[in-house]
Amino acid sequence: MSVDRLIGDLEAHRGQGASLERLLTAAVEGLSRLDPRFHWTGIYELFADGMLRLGPFVGAPTDHVFIGVGNGVCGTAVAERRNLNIPDVREITNYLACSMETRSELVVLIRSGERIFAQIDIDSHQVGAFDDIAVAIVQRVADWLAKAYELREEAPPGAPSP
Ligand code: SME
Repeated sequence: MSVDRLIGDLEAHRGQGASLERLLTAAVEGLSRLDPRFHWTGIYELFADGMLRLGPFVGAPTDHVFIGVGNGVCGTAVAERRNLNIPDVREITNYLACSMETRSELVVLIRSGERIFAQIDIDSHQVGAFDDIAVAIVQRVADWLAKAYELREEAPPGAPSP
């Protein structure tokens, strides 16, 4: 499986009328299969109340279903409006542990310009798991999902989900 194939599969799902929720699920399932270092792969969606809420994920269940903007790696990425690549989570203080095995974490925002819809969060048991190639792969999927969010907003009331 390559990221090109994953994007192609997502396009096909959208062409068949899949909901945004279904697309998010397919994206995390596909991403988790793309790299054996991706041990936990999930989506947090940003809601108007300033909270991130856990969406679809692949990996161990987490207690961190709600994360406030500014909290942990996930909330800090939103507060600072940038992606975060943490090579060793033991070296940061503002970290919410999902699993004691996690050693590195990547957060890539799903955004359209200044508008942040959600984020892809990936944990690895390996230190420094997220090299430039891994980051580029996750960024491609995040950019595709940002378009899916935009299309959902453009859809007229009553229209099928993009
Ligand atoms: N480690 C994240 C919390 C989410 S879990 O990794 C799934 C954080 O510090 O925000």
